[in-house]
Amino acid sequence: MNYLLFFLLVTVTICQDEYGCEDCECPDLLDKLFYPFRSEVLYTEEAGCVRNLTCKTDVSTFVRFNFTDSEIPRPDDSYYDAYALTSESPEVPTGPNINIFQFFGMICENNEWYITKYPSGIFYGTFSGEESVIGANGELDGKKAKIFGIHCEPPSQ
Ligand SMILES: *[C@@H]1O[C@H](CO)[C@@H](O)[C@H](O)[C@H]1NC(C)=O
Ligand SMILES: *[C@@H]1O[C@H](CO)[C@@H](O)[C@H](O)[C@H]1NC(C)=O
Repeated sequence: MNYLLFFLLVTVTICQDEYGCEDCECPDLLDKLFYPFRSEVLYTEEAGCVRNLTCKTDVSTFVRFNFTDSEIPRPDDSYYDAYALTSESPEVPTGPNINIFQFFGMICENNEWYITKYPSGIFYGTFSGEESVIGANGELDGKKAKIFGIHCEPPSQ
């Protein structure tokens, strides 16, 4: 047997068994960051595909996705665009700092980032000019939606 091939096989096997070798197979999560600049966010990468992206609970902290790229049915008359919110309502515009990776239950699957939790519901607009929020009671938790863009209001000190 070719020695080089043999050593390659051994290395690959050891790497799979040993703690610390598991790399995240997903693209950089911050590629999805639309606001603000990546140098302005509080972001850490932890083991595997675990991340920590800390933002302020705010009307401008949300994850945008397309109903078509999600397991959530598009409401009648709704645009494709959907926004998973952090603030409960415009009347309660801001709140504590949160790790939105955890808040939205972000996961990596087949090289794509998804959210799986909607603790403050999903905002959408309709062709007839109405605006609604669905799922604020957590009823949509567990459904996957492919992340299109992340907006993060930097945390207050
Ligand atoms: C996430 O990062 C923030 C800011 O550095 C830190 O305060 C918080 O404890 C971290 N959360 C977790 C779950 O590691
Ligand atoms: C959402 O998906 C639909 C259908 O695939 C597509 O026509 C539309 O352009 C998408 N919208 C956005 C904002 O990506």
